[in-house]
Amino acid sequence: MGDTATAITTLPLVRAVRYVQALREGGSLPGLIETDDLGTYVVKFRGAGQGTAALVAEIVVGELGRRLGIRVPDLILVDLDEAIGRREPDPDIQQLLLASVGVNLGMDFLPRAVGYDGRGRRPPPVDAAAILWLDALTVNVDRSWRNPNLLLWHGDVWAIDHGASLIFHHGWPSVTAFAGRDYPTGEHVLAPFADHVAEVHERLAPLVTREALAEVMGAVPEEWLPEAPETDGPEAVRSRYADYLLSRLEQAPRWLPGRAA
Ligand SMILES: Nc1ncnc2c1ncn2[C@@H]1O[C@H](COP(=O)(O)OP(=O)(O)O)[C@@H](O)[C@H]1O
Ligand SMILES: [Mg+2]
Repeated sequence: MGDTATAITTLPLVRAVRYVQALREGGSLPGLIETDDLGTYVVKFRGAGQGTAALVAEIVVGELGRRLGIRVPDLILVDLDEAIGRREPDPDIQQLLLASVGVNLGMDFLPRAVGYDGRGRRPPPVDAAAILWLDALTVNVDRSWRNPNLLLWHGDVWAIDHGASLIFHHGWPSVTAFAGRDYPTGEHVLAPFADHVAEVHERLAPLVTREALAEVMGAVPEEWLPEAPETDGPEAVRSRYADYLLSRLEQAPRWLPGRAA
């Protein structure tokens, strides 16, 4: 695994064996990759334009959601060899793969999943409201009618694509600027479930403890953490994420969608 071994976290690490295809829908050009554990993962590449902060957000929000009982595909780290990039005929994809040699983020591929766009059979309100609550807590701007980032798989709704949440880590404004920010739900695909958010908040807020957040942050590779002012070393940056989320929780119900607010 060469110089990538230092990126190991509490997430499992597997090796890519084959690049299968691009998932062209999204902007970050994620790809389907087969790995040496006989798995198939949707991989978000370190070398994509969004940068590693987006991967950090994927891990933090995904792992937090999982602890709250929200369905999120299993996350894994995928070590990518240079040879896979060199074999790739498409020049854009080759460039992306070569810029991403080393550790990248994989999500368990849900075969034949279909997108949820708010039409058709609705998910159970508590499941939907839990996702809406997590989005409001983490200020996720990527769950609109146009771009729902929800998959229906075996009758359940699964949440994907959390890279655009936790906007605070792109600039670390003052804690209060983030913590009190409201969460407009006009465009949110799960806005019809907002009336269930108060009940979900009562149940989920107590689960977001400093201990739970420390576990979540332990899944993030040190090398991917953004710089944060007045922090000394990766553990301090990890704590900064926990501080932000805990201070936002304290500001509820200001940011809660629906009648709860
Ligand atoms: N775990 C998954 N299983 C099946 N399909 C997925 C999975 N993750 C993503 N996809 C498909 O790939 C598309 C792009 O992935 P997404 O995470 O939304 O990336 P982007 O940041 O590019 O929008 C999704 O809209 C979905 O169709
Ligand atoms: Mg997406």
